[in-house]
Amino acid sequence: MNVIMALLSGHEVNILEGEEEKDQKENWKGYTNGLVRLHPGRWLFPGSYTKFANKLYEFRFKSNDVIVMTWPKCGTTWMQEIVWTMRNSPDLNHPRLGSPINTRVPFIDTDMFLECSLLPPADPESSTAKHFQRLCPGKDPADGFFFQLTEAQPEPRTIKTHLPISLFAPSLLDTAKVIYVVRNPKDVLVSYYHHVQLFIAMSYVGTLDKFVEYFLNDDLVYSPFWLHIKEAWEQKDHSNLHFVFYEDMLRDIKNELKKLNKFLDTNLSDEQLEKVHHYTSFNEMKKRDNVFNEAHESNDFMNSNYLETNGGFYRKGKSGSWKTKLNEDQSQKVDEWIEKHLTPLGITFKEAEEMEINVTTS
Ligand code: A3P
Repeated sequence: MNVIMALLSGHEVNILEGEEEKDQKENWKGYTNGLVRLHPGRWLFPGSYTKFANKLYEFRFKSNDVIVMTWPKCGTTWMQEIVWTMRNSPDLNHPRLGSPINTRVPFIDTDMFLECSLLPPADPESSTAKHFQRLCPGKDPADGFFFQLTEAQPEPRTIKTHLPISLFAPSLLDTAKVIYVVRNPKDVLVSYYHHVQLFIAMSYVGTLDKFVEYFLNDDLVYSPFWLHIKEAWEQKDHSNLHFVFYEDMLRDIKNELKKLNKFLDTNLSDEQLEKVHHYTSFNEMKKRDNVFNEAHESNDFMNSNYLETNGGFYRKGKSGSWKTKLNEDQSQKVDEWIEKHLTPLGITFKEAEEMEINVTTS
């Protein structure tokens, strides 16, 4: 493999070549800048990650920053909305309440995806582009649209990332608070399968069988899933890390909000927590549908044909939906993989059966 650079994090970057590159090109139409692997770890990223890797590693976190960290599809957006609302608008009266989530809680590593497909702001009239112009006057979006938005965010900043702990400076946990959300891998898999077909930046065109193979062989962007979790799990007793299971949020969100109230030192009353609870329920968030844009704006990020046929970002919001998607063979393969990688860590994923009771409150 071709080593193209060494990163400040201590990782070497290899570019995908040969059969592996050919295979990925056939199945992914979005990663137009190729893919790279980082060693140690075998982390997989779009080629544009190399442009931002050192900036991300050197990002200057502040002591009142809260980072929502997850592998994709573990419930990040739900947690982003909860944390931002608890910290900024527990009485639901902040002027930016209801504006696109990723402008209030910027996804700091988004730029590597934007470089693949379209450079922001695709539509300079969109609320997201206007927000950038307001917050980052004179800055060039090509230098990192969401990265610069994160830097310029008013305090207290809440920041989203899908990167693992090891790709940030070791001082991260001693500087800022991190909330790590994890979810049953089978639900993650089916949710990610939907996501990568929906989003232009990925545009997956392969089969589900092939996707399962990618997941289990650590060949999806942000893989390895198990190593991502392991790094956070090993820090779960650190006072600045709060480890949460998506399934616990589904089962007893009130209890999870109480724990967050303590971890974040937000001191919200029961009445305020109830407001946050209602505002961030699946039905309410789906109604607003404002992850990247205002709901009524044109959607530059999603494949419109897929969106029309299969629905958008807010898919099910449940646990156990893998049962209608994965066949017995696929399910068994994932079980064996969980047994091999995650069970030895002492992580027990909740039985999906327990979780059928979702969920949406009103
Ligand atoms: P499904 O695809 O299973 O429905 P992420 O934000 O990390 O991309 O995770 C997205 C998953 O969280 C999706 O799962 C999405 O529907 C679910 N989700 C988003 N908001 C939610 C909420 N308020 N309550 C429950 N699940 C939510």
